[in-house]
Amino acid sequence: MDIDPVIVLARFFYYGATSVLFGSSLFSLYAAGIGQADTRFWLPRDAAATLATMALLSALIWLAAFTISIGNLDGFIATLQTILFGSSLGTAWILRLFFLALLFLAVLSQHPLLVATAAFAVLFSEGWSGHGASAGWLGPTLHAVHAVCAAAWVGGLVALARVIAAARTGTMERRVAEAILGRFSRIGLVVVLLLATTGSAMAWLIIGGMPQLSTGYGRLLLLKVALFAAMAGLAAINRLFLVPKVASHHSGGALNAMSATILLEQLAGAAVLFDVAVLGLIDPHAR
Ligand code: HEM
Repeated sequence: MDIDPVIVLARFFYYGATSVLFGSSLFSLYAAGIGQADTRFWLPRDAAATLATMALLSALIWLAAFTISIGNLDGFIATLQTILFGSSLGTAWILRLFFLALLFLAVLSQHPLLVATAAFAVLFSEGWSGHGASAGWLGPTLHAVHAVCAAAWVGGLVALARVIAAARTGTMERRVAEAILGRFSRIGLVVVLLLATTGSAMAWLIIGGMPQLSTGYGRLLLLKVALFAAMAGLAAINRLFLVPKVASHHSGGALNAMSATILLEQLAGAAVLFDVAVLGLIDPHAR
């Protein structure tokens, strides 16, 4: 089966932009009552508006390229109408575009809780468009929880790097940084466990067993699990060895090390999202 690179890139930017908006807006909740109350720190207006535009535009490009891939340019409007109003994918697409429009408005409001809620709705609605969508209520629910957890972790890594940078430059007290990092890593443990559980259950539902190297889907899924393990390893180093040192007199070294581990985690996270951008498009059983 030919994979359309336009659709892959559009899905990658869609997942990336939505994840960063969701993960960053959650940090204003992690910081609640600790410090850094200025919400613009977590969601600088221009960056947030650019991400919201990127999420909406890449979803529209994905839909247009998908429409062209199954129809042709002459019948573009007719094919689009069939997808939106005459196919099982229609509801998921209409919900996705509706929640993306809400996300754009939420970003303009500059209120992190509204942004987090709208981004949550976009991600949760993903449950009804993956390979698991046809597996009763369980498939979509697992997928929805999975997509939300994925965004909380991968998207949160951008705000995490901003906390480290602010603590290094002194624009944020190290005691405040340590408290915020502590909250993120405690929530992070739950997120990682939920990701592994929902991911394994979805894999079982979709391919009926362990991923096989003999299929393209199996190879991509195994690569994804390897990247996930690497990210979890880096997160464990942060949580067990580096975060505890952030407010101590060894903080300089710990902050430098964390800048490096977080950058590696971000790169692995981007690779997982690219993997996912392809994984959701290929036939799970094709050799
Ligand atoms: C950092 C870790 C992870 C991230 C960021 C992530 C992200 C995602 C996203 C965004 C989707 C939705 C894709 C779509 O709708 O097409 C997805 C689907 C999926 N993920 Fe993950 N995931 C992670 C870890 C895992 C793990 C550890 C497993 C397996 C144990 C897993 C198995 C799956 C499966 C089977 C799907 C369904 C794909 C399909 O529709 O065919 N994921 N993942």
